Amino acid sequence: KNIIHFDTIDSTNDYAKHIAVDEKDGTIIISEEQTKGKGRLGRQWHSKESEGIWMSIILKPEITPYKAPFITLVAGASIVKALNKLGVNASIKWPNDIIVNDKKICGILTELSAEIERVNYVVLGIGINVKTMEFDSEICDVATSLYKEGYEVSRVDIVKNILTEFEVLYLDYVVNKSKKKTLDICRVYSAIIGKKIYIISDGERELVKCLDLNEEGNLIIETEQGLVKEIMSGEVSIRG
Ligand code: BTN
Repeated sequence: KNIIHFDTIDSTNDYAKHIAVDEKDGTIIISEEQTKGKGRLGRQWHSKESEGIWMSIILKPEITPYKAPFITLVAGASIVKALNKLGVNASIKWPNDIIVNDKKICGILTELSAEIERVNYVVLGIGINVKTMEFDSEICDVATSLYKEGYEVSRVDIVKNILTEFEVLYLDYVVNKSKKKTLDICRVYSAIIGKKIYIISDGERELVKCLDLNEEGNLIIETEQGLVKEIMSGEVSIRG
């Protein structure tokens, strides 16, 4: 495997995007520390030295841009499967977050370069809080780490297991064009299916019930008025 390791870097995602055109499919960038770790929606991602897994994978799938968002679910499924195999009771908060005991331990940031008909590359960024004990006050109610929740798992084992699971699910999706393996895992380890959640879009908050994921990986919800709707990833944000 092609793995590029740093002691420190601004952001593994930014570095990956920088080198993506010239690198092979499957190249992994991993750093002990990120000085400008990026979260979703322009937020920062705390990435202190040796406290977690901060990595990005460069992917060059032969798919149309429309099919790329599903790769986030493929990643989530492989992370949740890997963690459960290591004894961690982790679940997926569709579509981007992995949680343990109702708090976030892992976020996924997928960035894309594409033309109309084809993807040039995908940078799949994964951040997992492993050893972090102290979180800033603005996130300490919602964020946690594996150690904080009582799981002493080695970072190397986590990375190895994720890559093993990811390879299977990713090839099933981009080569076999099948979403089944990923969706089965997303359903089994879902933190939200069968539960009531708030969906937030344009600052409006609505309480809905999560019914299922459909065959596309979209979330099926039921409103308080009994209306059944389908939401695509990226459309809304979700609170438990
Ligand atoms: C989120 O907001 O939930 C997504 C967090 C993604 C963090 C990871 S850490 C490795 C990669 N490099 C970054 O700058 N961000 C992602």
